[in-house]
Amino acid sequence: MKQHMFPDYTSLCQAVAAEVISQLKRKPHSVLVFPTGNTPIGLFKELVSAHNSGAANFSAAQVVILDEYAGLMPGDPRSLADWLKRELLTPIALPQSSIHGFENGPDAMEKQIKRLGGLDLVILGLGPNGHLGFNEPGSAFDSRARRIDLTPDSIASNAAYWGSEDRVPRQGFTLGLGTLARAASIILMVSGSGKADILAKTLRGPISPANPASVLRRLAQSQVFADAAALAAHCP
Ligand code: PGA
Repeated sequence: MKQHMFPDYTSLCQAVAAEVISQLKRKPHSVLVFPTGNTPIGLFKELVSAHNSGAANFSAAQVVILDEYAGLMPGDPRSLADWLKRELLTPIALPQSSIHGFENGPDAMEKQIKRLGGLDLVILGLGPNGHLGFNEPGSAFDSRARRIDLTPDSIASNAAYWGSEDRVPRQGFTLGLGTLARAASIILMVSGSGKADILAKTLRGPISPANPASVLRRLAQSQVFADAAALAAHCP
């Protein structure tokens, strides 16, 4: 698993954006996956400005949604797909028909990925417990897209966003670790000292479902892009 270190968050975001842009140049109809969370916000800004300046062309791209809450009405603004649309997909003018979510359930999602010809480039954030999407600790390395129970930790950490804990959905959908493992290229994007411990464990600790992100070390096509703060525990 190749590691790339950047001095700060801005240069990290620029580097990941450059990977996305060159992927699109090589293959305009690439199938892409983006994470939600704080980490990719700067990446999205870079991609939107590349779209606006004409440096990136997303017109033929397809985007597969990494994870989603279950039980929301279509178009619920709290959905992760809608969040991604607001932050990235609408500003880069991706048509709705090029966005593939979990509306028809996890099995339909696997079939859709197959129909699209597989995932080309997957960008992932790193959860504080090593989760990838909603693949929480204990997720099997060969797991496929599926419905999952949110962990008490996820429910608690989402409570602020939803107003109170009892309004947080109890279930979600996620692409599985096995689904992600079949992607042609995977970038784990990590920023900040708050991620230093889990990143060190991911890079040097046991390869085990106890840390879902550790599966990436088994995948030759995966790379870590991290800023110096996140790699601090790794490079003292
Ligand atoms: P973050 O989330 O980017 O907001 O840190 C990462 C994650 O929990 O997957």
